[in-house]
Amino acid sequence: MYSVALSLPELSSFTGRRGPCAICLYVDGAGGATPTGNVAHEFLAPEDNRYRRRMRMENSMIKMKVALVGCGNIGADLCIALQKGNIPAVISALTDVDRERAYVLKRTFQLRASVCSLDDAANKSDFLIECAGAGAVKEVVEAAIEHKKDCLIMSVGSLMSQPELLEQAREHKVQVRIPSGALCGLDGVRAAMEAGLHSVVLTTRKPPKGLVGAPYLVENQIDVENISEEMVVFEGNALEAVKAFPANVNVAGALSLMGMGPKETMVRVIADPNALENSHQIVAEGAFGRLEATTRNLPSPRNPKSSYLASLSACAELRNAAMDFILHDPDIPF
Ligand SMILES: NC(=O)c1ccc[n+]([C@@H]2O[C@H](COP(=O)([O-])OP(=O)(O)OC[C@H]3O[C@@H](n4cnc5c(N)ncnc54)[C@H](O)[C@@H]3O)[C@@H](O)[C@H]2O)c1
Repeated sequence: MYSVALSLPELSSFTGRRGPCAICLYVDGAGGATPTGNVAHEFLAPEDNRYRRRMRMENSMIKMKVALVGCGNIGADLCIALQKGNIPAVISALTDVDRERAYVLKRTFQLRASVCSLDDAANKSDFLIECAGAGAVKEVVEAAIEHKKDCLIMSVGSLMSQPELLEQAREHKVQVRIPSGALCGLDGVRAAMEAGLHSVVLTTRKPPKGLVGAPYLVENQIDVENISEEMVVFEGNALEAVKAFPANVNVAGALSLMGMGPKETMVRVIADPNALENSHQIVAEGAFGRLEATTRNLPSPRNPKSSYLASLSACAELRNAAMDFILHDPDIPF
C-alpha cells in the first residue's frame, strides 16, 4: 500500500493522466445507450506490472491515427494535448467546411496530416472525432460505419434527434464514444440507473450573451440581452432542449444517454445577467437516494462560448480510445 502526497499537477505529470472520466457507449436493442467502459486512472507504483504495461504502451511507436472533423476550438485543444506526447495517437487527417481552418491547424501544430474530404479522412485514419457541430454528426457516424472505424461525437445533442444512428452503429459493431462534456456527475447517474431513477432535472445557467441567437429565443422573440434579473427561458424535456438550444445543451444529451432517456430527462435553462460562468446542476432522485452535482465551468481559453471542461473531456476520451486501440494491437507484446 502506497501513501504519497502529491499536488494534482504533480500527480498529473507523473501519471500522464488528467481530466474527467469519459464514458464509452454501445447502444442497446431499444435504441438507448449502455455504458461499456469508464476508465478510472489510478496511481500505480513503478514495480506494479500494470505500471510497466502502461509505460510500454505509452512509449510504443504505434499510434492510433485520428481524423479531426472540425478544426476549431476543441480541435485545437486536442492538438495541444497530443503535442505533449503522452497520448498514443497522431492526427492523420483534417476536414472542415472552411478548409482554411484546417490548414491553419496543420501549420500551427506542424501536423503531418492531409487536409481532405470526410471520406478520405475516414479512409486514412483509425478513429474519427466530430468536433464540428450538430450538422456534421450524421455524416460522421455514417462515414465511421462505412469505413468500420470507431468515433467520438462531441455534438451529443444531435444524437438525441437521430437515435437511428446509434442503432446503425451498433448493428455494424462500430463504437460511438460520448464524452462527459462540460458536465460532472454522470458516473453517479449511470450507477443509480441500475436500480431505476424517479426523476432527473438539469438546470443550465448562462450569461445572456451565451444564449443569444438560440433558435428557441429567436422563434419566441425572447430578448435576454437587456434583462437585469435572472430569467427562466426554457423548461422542457432533453429532446426539446437540444432542438431549442442546439449549441448550448449538449450536456442534456449526455445526461439523457446515461440516465432516463431524452423524453424523461427534464431541462431548465436560465439566462442570468449576474452569472460569470456557465453552470450545470443535475438533481437526480431514485431508489439510491438523491444526487446533486453542480459544475461551474470556466470558458475555454480560445472560445468564450465553449467550456474548457468540454475540450478536456474530448482529450480524456481520445486518450482512452488510443489506449484501447493499441491494447488490441497484436504487434505490441505484453
Ligand atoms: N459535449 C459537450 O459538452 C460540448 C461542449 C462544447 C461543444 N460541443 C460541440 O462541439 C462542437 C465544436 O465546438 P468548438 O468549440 O470546437 O466549435 P468551433 O466553432 O470553435 O469549431 C467548429 C469547427 O467546425 C467546422 N465545421 C462546422 N460544421 C462543419 C461540418 N459540417 N463539417 C466539417 N466542419 C464543420 C467550423 O468551420 C469550425 O472550424 C460544437 O459545435 C458543439 O456541438 C460539445
